[in-house]
Amino acid sequence: MSETQEITPYEQIGGELAVRKLVNRFYEIMDTDPVAAGVRAIHQPDLTLAAEKLFLFLSGWLGGPPLFVEKYGHPMLRARHLPFRIDERMRDEWLYCMYKAMDEQLAEQSDLKAHLEQAFMRTADFMRNAG
Ligand code: HEM
Repeated sequence: MSETQEITPYEQIGGELAVRKLVNRFYEIMDTDPVAAGVRAIHQPDLTLAAEKLFLFLSGWLGGPPLFVEKYGHPMLRARHLPFRIDERMRDEWLYCMYKAMDEQLAEQSDLKAHLEQAFMRTADFMRNAG
């Protein structure tokens, strides 16, 4: 009997270390690139906790271990973003950082990159709570 083995995006990226690398680079870009100044300004001065939480969340979101849920329970992601005014511009600054980090890290995995760009776009747009 044959069994279909789904290879998750988590595995395709390269597991825990690769997801951590992506998250760290994402916040490094947010922290330094003037294009992302607006979205940087609504984050805490210290991005360490934000990076850890995004890593935990993405681990499960990408099909790997559901670390965020294990530690904090249901993420309620949209509710947690309501204190911040997220319009199209804010969304696009966030996506700019993530797309740039993926361009660097997933240059040779164009199918995966295209798939994740779509998935991040949908999730980021779901977080939008203003124009
Ligand atoms: C659409 C644009 C987005 C903006 C402007 C935004 C902004 C923020 C801000 C300001 C925080 C608080 C961080 C801090 O305390 O310094 C945060 C937390 C977080 N964001 Fe976003 N975010 C966006 C999209 C996303 C997306 C697409 C994801 C997931 C794919 C995500 C996942 C998270 C997680 C997991 C946290 C931590 C939540 C917690 O504290 O429990 N965000 N975000």
